[in-house]
Amino acid sequence: MSGEGKESVGRFPLVDFPAGQARVVKVGKRSVLVVLEGETVTAVSNRCPHQETPFGVSAHERGFDDRGRLVCPLHNWVFDLESGMAAGHPGVCLRRYRAAVSGNELEIDISG
Ligand code: FES
Repeated sequence: MSGEGKESVGRFPLVDFPAGQARVVKVGKRSVLVVLEGETVTAVSNRCPHQETPFGVSAHERGFDDRGRLVCPLHNWVFDLESGMAAGHPGVCLRRYRAAVSGNELEIDISG
């Protein structure tokens, strides 16, 4: 799936995002990891800030710890999705994007 419209904004059918599971989508040339919980959408770069490797589409299978934090499969760094901060690594943060539910669509803006 890819975004439509302006390259910096992707719009995707809401039904394609199961609650509580991560999905990876493309917006322009960026790979974005998206998690939808109720009306709350979290969209972050699908690149771990440690070594710039992708978290991968398997994040929904084993990519979260028991506190709902994102776990990188390569070296097990842990990221709080709400703040983006890496646990135990001060100053390391996921790149976050604006995202919202709009009608039956999920909109992700990578321009900011
Ligand atoms: S690349 Fe993610 S923790 Fe090392």
